[in-house]
Amino acid sequence: MEAQVRVNGEERLLRFAGDAVLLDVLREAGYTEVKEGCREGACGSCLVLLDGLLVNACQVLAGSVEGREITTVRGIGTFQVPHPIQEAFVEAGAVQCGFCTPGLVLAAYALLEANPHPREAEIARALDGHLCRCTGSVKVLEAVRLAAERLGKGSRGKRS
Ligand code: FES
Ligand code: FES
Repeated sequence: MEAQVRVNGEERLLRFAGDAVLLDVLREAGYTEVKEGCREGACGSCLVLLDGLLVNACQVLAGSVEGREITTVRGIGTFQVPHPIQEAFVEAGAVQCGFCTPGLVLAAYALLEANPHPREAEIARALDGHLCRCTGSVKVLEAVRLAAERLGKGSRGKRS
């Protein structure tokens, strides 16, 4: 099967077996920032934005994405030009091995796009479906608070 999609703003033709999930197809196409964790929809490592909505890529059949827009964490910021959320994660010490970070950053991005001034409980709820073995949740929560504070002061949005 194949699907024509836009990934991080670029047109891509993806080819895959009929039972393939989006996680594997993206990784095979070079988007290795989409991480494979549980494959059960429980860890958030494989999170991407599909037409602007958060999905666990391990739970999406690749055959269902024809014509759709996919954003991985590289689509919102890179090493060279990081998004303020990524900068906040680094500054708050919320990145250790980094395996969970792409999913967490995308979850924080979706939260702050929808709700620039989240309350503590709303941040916690937005990060609820994520597992981080290294940091626990304290530094990650701190990073999202820091990002919200900065983006709320006017630097909000994509920087790519
Ligand atoms: S690998 Fe998809 S949610 Fe864990
Ligand atoms: S930083 Fe290692 S799993 Fe989260």
